Amino acid sequence: MKPIEIQPNIFWIGVNDRSTKLFEGLWPIEKEGISYNSYLIKDEKTVLIDLCKGLFQDEYLNELKTLIDPSEIDYLVVNHMEPDHSGAMQAFRKIAPQAKILATIKAVQMMEDFFGISENIQPVNDREKISLGEKELLFITAPMVHWPETMMTYETSSQVLFSCDAFGGYGTLSDGIFDDDYKDISYFEQESLRYFSNIVAAFSKPVLNAGAKLADIPIKMIAPSHGLVWRGAPERILNLYVKWSEFSKDTAERGVTLLYGSMYGNTLKMLPAITAGLEKAHVPTKGHDITTTHISYILPDLWVNQGVMIGAPTYEGSIFPTMAAVLEMVNFKRIFNRHAAYFGSYGWGGGATRYLKTQFEKSKWEFVESLVFPGQPSQEDLANASAFSERFGNLIKSL
Ligand SMILES: Cc1cc2nc3c(=O)[nH]c(=O)nc-3n(C[C@H](O)[C@H](O)[C@H](O)COP(=O)(O)O)c2cc1C
Ligand SMILES: [Fe+2]
Ligand SMILES: [Fe+2]
Repeated sequence: MKPIEIQPNIFWIGVNDRSTKLFEGLWPIEKEGISYNSYLIKDEKTVLIDLCKGLFQDEYLNELKTLIDPSEIDYLVVNHMEPDHSGAMQAFRKIAPQAKILATIKAVQMMEDFFGISENIQPVNDREKISLGEKELLFITAPMVHWPETMMTYETSSQVLFSCDAFGGYGTLSDGIFDDDYKDISYFEQESLRYFSNIVAAFSKPVLNAGAKLADIPIKMIAPSHGLVWRGAPERILNLYVKWSEFSKDTAERGVTLLYGSMYGNTLKMLPAITAGLEKAHVPTKGHDITTTHISYILPDLWVNQGVMIGAPTYEGSIFPTMAAVLEMVNFKRIFNRHAAYFGSYGWGGGATRYLKTQFEKSKWEFVESLVFPGQPSQEDLANASAFSERFGNLIKSL
């Protein structure tokens, strides 16, 4: 895409990635894609803020050259060392060796380790300012959002915050780069939540710390390194990130994530009764067949809903491994303090409940109730299931 002037003499230079199947080798983006946003500020001193993934460096540098001769760039700000932004660093250094790199002290060692770059680097401190002429940069460190060296950069005269991964989201920017280019941004909000729950949520406390640091800074525009540039309503994405981060501290929304997976369909026979009970309780429910849905799409619901209803059979004295993998990811992503109920079929001695008890101790989940049955559910099991899930739904609503 061609560069776009987002403020006088501040340009977006972005690349839409439509070829990567798994972001970070893990999160599906085949349908949605992702953008790598970089920014150029022209003033007496010229600054480039962040780069892009190495795979796209040729496309990126060609776009950059339509705006400026790279040998005239004074500074490269490296907000974050993850290679989706820094991958083009060696190629950039080759054509712009004069550009001094500005980054946190923690990024300096990483630059050497990742790219063998150790010269012409100036470490910057939290709240340090650098004048560019009329414009001025303010650096705000944001450690562990989501790497230790992370920072954000703020341009004081235009009040633009270059927030890097914070406030980012999946989704390419084909029909406009600004939030107010779209009548309905619910798709981007959903993809921001998926990005948040996949990548940032485990670091909710650092996100809240970073949010607190921004409290006294007037923000006219949020320009992250992925997804929309928030011009119409920058407070919208800031508030969403803060709201989502707070779900790690206290209770999340009064809803239920219903997760189910089955080998031969016995556990699944309970599903209509379970769903009916949740409907009776009028509790918002999002269901996922874990055997066909990637965890990337399940994490957003686990993150925002306080209740988790788990349906899966016993497998080798434990729970169905696909469900175990989901619950293992729960621990990776620090989705703590939820309320859970379990239903499932077993063949002889069972074991899923025992597994869950141990698992929930790790994730600090409250194990509310379980309903297990040998083989296929009996009429009595089916009759009980609806009341079982209705009780659970009502409990979640009452929290
Ligand atoms: C590979 C495999 C391992 C199993 N391991 C156990 C087990 O350790 N203990 C047990 O009680 N049942 C075990 N079962 C039996 C299942 O829990 C039982 O068949 C159940 O009805 C399957 O539910 P589903 O139809 O929802 O997949 C196992 C079944 C399979 C296929
Ligand atoms: Fe990152
Ligand atoms: Fe990133």
